Amino acid sequence: MKTMIYAHRGASKLAPENTMPAYQIASESGADGLEIDVQLTKDSIPVLIHDENVRRTTNGTGFVQDYTYDEIKQLDAGSWFSSKFSDCSIITLDYFLRWFKDLPLLLNVELKTNVIEYKRIERIVYDSLKHYQLLDRTVISSFNITSIKKMKIINPSVSTAFLTSTKRRHLPGYAHSHGASSLHIKYRMLDKKIVKQCHKNHMPLRIYTVNRPSWMEKCFKMGCDAIFTDVPHEAVEYRELYKK
Ligand code: G3P
Ligand code: MG
Repeated sequence: MKTMIYAHRGASKLAPENTMPAYQIASESGADGLEIDVQLTKDSIPVLIHDENVRRTTNGTGFVQDYTYDEIKQLDAGSWFSSKFSDCSIITLDYFLRWFKDLPLLLNVELKTNVIEYKRIERIVYDSLKHYQLLDRTVISSFNITSIKKMKIINPSVSTAFLTSTKRRHLPGYAHSHGASSLHIKYRMLDKKIVKQCHKNHMPLRIYTVNRPSWMEKCFKMGCDAIFTDVPHEAVEYRELYKK
C-alpha cells in the first residue's frame, strides 16, 4: 500500500508556510496533497495562517480575529522567512481554493479551533469546499473534537479527522464515536498498536510532521495512510527509493 504525502503548510522548508509560494512549490513536488491551516478574521473571512497571533509569521502583532481581511492582507507574511518573499501576503481560503481546484491533488483543511472557537468556521469552510466541488478529495481536521462533530452535523458523509498529540485508551474508537472518519497523530505516538486498531476500525491513519528519512521509512513500513511533511520533494524521492 502506498503512503500518501501531504505538504505540511506547503513546502514549508523552502518558502513561508501557508503562503502561495509554499503551495506552488509543493504542487510541483510530486506530493499527493497539500495541508492548509485556517482561521477567521474579524469579518469572518477564512484565511490561511497557522498561529492565532500574526506575530511569528508576519510583520504585524495581535490576533487574527482582531484584523479585518482588508487589514490583515496588508501584512508582510514572507520577510520573516527570507527577504526574497517580502511580497507575500496572507491569502483567503477562497483565493487558495480557486487556484487549487484544477490541480490533481488531495487537500487537508485544518480548522484551527483548538485555542479560539471561531463562530461558524465549520459552516463557512464547508460551503467554500462545496462551492469549488472539492469535498470528495478533502479531509477536514481539527484538534477540537467539537469542530469534527459540527462538521458531521452539516454533512455526515464529509471526510473528517481528529488531530491529536495525546495518547488515550482506544483512540480510534474515541475519534470515531465523535464523528471522525480518520485519525491524524503526532509521529511520536506511532506504534504497532495504533496502526492495528485503525486498520481494524477501517480508519485511515495519517502522521505529522514527518521530516526525517528514518521517520518516513517507519511510516511507509508500518502502512500508515499518509504523512505530513515540510519537505515534500525529499519524501517523494525517499518513497521511490523505499519501493526499490
Ligand atoms: O495537520 C497536521 C498538522 O498540521 C497539525 O499540527 O500545529 O502543524 O498545524 P500543526
Ligand atoms: Mg496544520
